[in-house]
Amino acid sequence: MERGFDVTLGPLDDHLGDLPREGATIVVTASYNGTAPDNAARFCGWLQDPATPADACPTMRYTVFGCGHTDWAATYQTVPKLVDAELEAHGATRVHPRGEGDAKSDFDAQYRAWHAGLWSDLAEALSLPAAVGQAAAPRPGLAISMVNKRETNPVVTSYRARPALVRVNRELQHFDGGRLERSTRHLEIALPEGTTYAAGDHLGVLPRNPVDAIWRVCRHFKLDVGNYVTIAPGPAGVPGHLPAGEAVPLIGVLASCVELHDVATRSDLEAMAAHTDDPKQRDELLTLAADDPESREHYHERVFAPRKSLLDLFGEFPDCHLPFDTFLELLPPLRPRYYSISSSPLVSPDVCSITAGVLEAPARSGHGLFHGVCSNHLAHSEPDSTVFAFVRKPTIPFRPPDNPHVPMIMIGCGTGLAPFRGFLQERATQKEQGVPVAQSLLFFGCRNPERDFLYEEELRHFEQLGMVRLHPAFSRVPGTPKTYVQHLIAEHADEVWRLLQDEAVIFVCGDATRMAPDVRRAFTDIFTSRTGTSAGDADAWFTGLRQANRFLEDIWG
Ligand code: 2AM
Repeated sequence: MERGFDVTLGPLDDHLGDLPREGATIVVTASYNGTAPDNAARFCGWLQDPATPADACPTMRYTVFGCGHTDWAATYQTVPKLVDAELEAHGATRVHPRGEGDAKSDFDAQYRAWHAGLWSDLAEALSLPAAVGQAAAPRPGLAISMVNKRETNPVVTSYRARPALVRVNRELQHFDGGRLERSTRHLEIALPEGTTYAAGDHLGVLPRNPVDAIWRVCRHFKLDVGNYVTIAPGPAGVPGHLPAGEAVPLIGVLASCVELHDVATRSDLEAMAAHTDDPKQRDELLTLAADDPESREHYHERVFAPRKSLLDLFGEFPDCHLPFDTFLELLPPLRPRYYSISSSPLVSPDVCSITAGVLEAPARSGHGLFHGVCSNHLAHSEPDSTVFAFVRKPTIPFRPPDNPHVPMIMIGCGTGLAPFRGFLQERATQKEQGVPVAQSLLFFGCRNPERDFLYEEELRHFEQLGMVRLHPAFSRVPGTPKTYVQHLIAEHADEVWRLLQDEAVIFVCGDATRMAPDVRRAFTDIFTSRTGTSAGDADAWFTGLRQANRFLEDIWG
């Protein structure tokens, strides 16, 4: 048809004694244990019948392609060969040689070899212009338009997240004898059109829940993962993070609207109790949910510390039959995870990079490994895949001072290095443009120079440009004492103090619980030792620094 032929398609049995006299016939047939297919059996019988006239097919033009499988060697191509020979014997004209396709080998190549000369042979046999035998005009394909349902996902809309293409995703940690001790990924993400950023901004990423967790939900509630669901409003409407009133894929709701791993709250436990018949299990749940000190301790031990989710608890309370709709309503909305952007728009305005530590640790519940939802989602995002992201500006001016003469004292541990790569890119660009740039300091804490000295080459390059002095602190080098960033701040107190006299701005990024307080103390210690004043004076000085936005923290617990 694509080549302009008028084509009819039908089984051989429809042509008993009534063979086409015009045009050409292409017979595609096979053998079944040496016998004809069901819809060609009578035709083959008729062809072989001695009563069939020898000139039964006088003007027929034909060719045959036989399908077979050489595992059935004894009967391979029996019927196609028979049809081919009998048609010829009954007066028909073969216009193209018979072809054979063997499903055991490269059937496609064999078919193409047969098909290659088919159209030109047909054109010749039918006295048609040779152009008929040329390649067919390209067939219009299906028109598929992507409906990006996640864009109509209320969670995505509420954060104004947009699809963003992952351009690069590579490992930053070095292998230790073939084994990756931990994983830190460098991702480059093309920002949605119209999105701008500044060094020090955060990229908010909406993860997808992992497939195994979604299966766990479906298994527990005996749901088909391929189902669609329509969420109808209850007395309080539909929670804002769930799609309301239209049929949506269940898998989409579970992957992209709710948190599946959050620790079960007391209200969750109460809801479980309300759907538990067994009095012992029900009482146990109610005790865990109660507010007296003893119950609180019990909850802490049994649920909070081991970070047990509703799903984890279903296993422990088999008599609980919480309905799926209640479960879905109890789950908190999916939260974005924020990553410090590790590039500068001066170097890369449309594509920002982030530096993500991939969280994988023994589950506190004692069962298997816990995988950080977003870091693993990102770690497995192949280049050219899409993530849903948006840029968030920090509420404090965590960015290089506008004045490039102002020195920066940057302190970062692990992935806390991220924003400083962007800061240094920014200052390096200014320096390349001939702007005089102040000499800054970078204290970077990692475990071992061989493994997790992230972006070492780039940092060394910045150092060579004369715009920063690097002070790496290594905490896990066998045979050497643990060194933390605060130790190096103390060790380089003179240098630090000198930069502080030059109005340096201090930036701290990384662990909030232990590193940040130790770093603060390192600075107040420098103040007291240099000025010979009291701890109270140091605190006042420090408060002043903060108020002047000269001590800025981007830290997390
Ligand atoms: P660790 O080897 O003792 O865990 C990034 O995680 C780096 O920060 C690691 O080198 C880690 O050391 C270090 N770190 C851990 N606790 C710290 C603290 N209280 N102060 C500064 N750095 C710390």
